[in-house]
Formats: sequence, C-alpha cells, structure tokens
Amino acid sequence: MGKQVNRIGVLTSGGDAPGMNAAVRAVVRSALSRGIDCVGIRRGWNGLISSDFIRMDTSSVSHVVNKGGTLLYTARSEEFREVSGQDKALATCKLLGLNAIVAIGGDGTFRGALALSRRAAEVGYPIQVAGIPATIDNDIGCSHYTIGFDTACNTAIECIDRLRDTMQSHERCSVVEVMGRHAGYLALYVGISVGATAVLIPERELDFERDVVEKIRRARLAGTTHYMVVVAEGAGNTMEISRQINEEIGLDPRVTVLGHIQRGGAPSARDRETASRMGYMAVQAIAENRGNCVVATQEGRMVTMDMEEALAMKKEFSMDRYDILEALTNNGGLKSL
Ligand code: F6P
Repeated sequence: MGKQVNRIGVLTSGGDAPGMNAAVRAVVRSALSRGIDCVGIRRGWNGLISSDFIRMDTSSVSHVVNKGGTLLYTARSEEFREVSGQDKALATCKLLGLNAIVAIGGDGTFRGALALSRRAAEVGYPIQVAGIPATIDNDIGCSHYTIGFDTACNTAIECIDRLRDTMQSHERCSVVEVMGRHAGYLALYVGISVGATAVLIPERELDFERDVVEKIRRARLAGTTHYMVVVAEGAGNTMEISRQINEEIGLDPRVTVLGHIQRGGAPSARDRETASRMGYMAVQAIAENRGNCVVATQEGRMVTMDMEEALAMKKEFSMDRYDILEALTNNGGLKSL
C-alpha cells in the first residue's frame, strides 16, 4: 500500500481543448467527495515550476462544465523538459504538500507527468500522476478518443456548412484547412460530415491528380458546380493546393484556414460527459494508489492504463473512413473519365 493521498494538484497543459473545464471540475469535485484537497496549478507545468496555484473548492468549478478554454490557463513549457525545471516543480509539490498530480492534455503533457513522477521517486518524494487525454487532434496512441475532438469537429462542420452556402451561390471551389497537427482525424471526420469533394490527410501520400483533380472532375461530371476540398494542416500547404487547382483545371479557389476557431466554444455533450467520467476515474485511480496511469477509451470502454505503456502506444490510423468518404463523394458510377 502506498501513502494515502491527501492533496491533488490539477493542471491543463498544451493546446486547450473544449471539455478541459469539465475535466478540471470532475477532478476537483471527485477529490473533494473523497476528502482529498485539490489545488489548481495554473499555466500548465510552468505553474508548477513557478508556484502559480489556486486553492480549489466546490464553487471554484461552478458553471464551468459548459465553458470552452481552460479556467486554469495552459502553456507549453520548455523549462519543464529539463531536470532543473522538474526539480523546481517538485519543490512546489513539497511546499504545497501535493502527493498527486492530474495532468490534462496531450502526450507531451503525459511525458512531462512521467518525468516528474520518475524524478520524484529518485529524490524520495513519491508523487502519483494521472493523465487525462484532451486535444482536438485525437492523436493520442493509447486512447480511441480525446476530449475536445467532437466539439472541434462540430465547430469546423458549422463553419464549412456556412462556406458551402457562398461557394454554392458563386459556383466556386473552396480549399479549407483544418487543424490536427500531424494527424488527419479531424479533417477526415469533418470531410465525411460535410460531404467534401476531396479530403487530404497526412496519413495518405498525396497524388494531386488522383486525390484532387480527378475528384473535382468527377464531381463536375456528376453535376456539381461547387467543390469543397478539406485539407488537414499536416497534409500540405493550402495556398499551394489552391494554386495547383487553378493551374491544372482553371478554377479560382478561395482559401479558408479555420485555425484556432476550432479550439474554442462550448463543449459538446460527448466532450462534457467524457471529461466528467475521465476526471472521476483519474481521481479514483489515485485514491486507490493506482497512479502513474492514463485514463483512456478503448473499444468503447473507459480504462486506466500504465502511463509508460500508454506513451509507447501508437495509434493505428484506419483507412476505413477514407474508403467510406470515397464511396460517398460525388464520384459514384463514373468509373472512367
Ligand atoms: O494540438 C492542438 C493544436 O490545435 C493543433 O491542431 C495545432 O497544430 C496546434 O495545436 C496549434 O498550436 P498553437 O496553439 O501553439 O498555435
């Protein structure tokens, strides 16, 4: 049996994601309901380094379940990558009497958490860490789903639906860039949902003729006079793609980069509910001395898994959805041009 946890620090780190507040709320209230104190660490790992914290009680997280962004602020910390930064963070943990940290963010956040717990063990001040996956990119190896993805998809879909109205009226081609860093999940889910003419994702090597030109041609032959090309930010340069479309088929596309708008807004039901369950499970794992874990969704179930193993996992990008997209775009029946 490890030492009884009596005070948990909670932080959000990396890019914010809608639903992070719901996760913070769940951590705070689940901790309090078990008689465990909770301290909010502000500005990610930087806050632990510089002792930037707030005491959390049940009302600190009132009326936040429906809010985008993160009330704890967030940051990407260079200093925390260094042992010297981790030692400063440990000094804050000791000062505040924190013996567990719940870190909400992406795999960079989890790598930080693991480094902290290892360093803590080395210096004889054990700290349990638990990770909650939150990123709009949905690119964390161990978890099928990450908090924020659903809301970001819905936001992008709403924007593209609006774009379609004007593209349709002017019979234009739109090239829209969506976020996702090195992953194409956001672009693919959004592309399917808006009925995109073509979707470019980093997981599929681009053949411009096959993936863009031919798709637009087929759509035109099927009667369409406006075209929606969705590009994952990791798949190519939207200006260049637009220029190439112009050069090769004479259309004059309009480029829209949705950018950070996809990270904001009220979290969807899925994100609120997932975040609430993950926050609860993270605290449960810590209270039962099953820390150094990540809460993840796997095959429809929510589980906790060893953080080191979780970090070693790679997400298999299934092309099934791409095949569905292909079947549902305006190309059906036109076998050859
Ligand atoms: O990881 C989330 C994300 O929004 C990515 O989709 C994007 O590439 C990146 O963060 C943008 O980072 P920043 O907010 O630092 O510009």
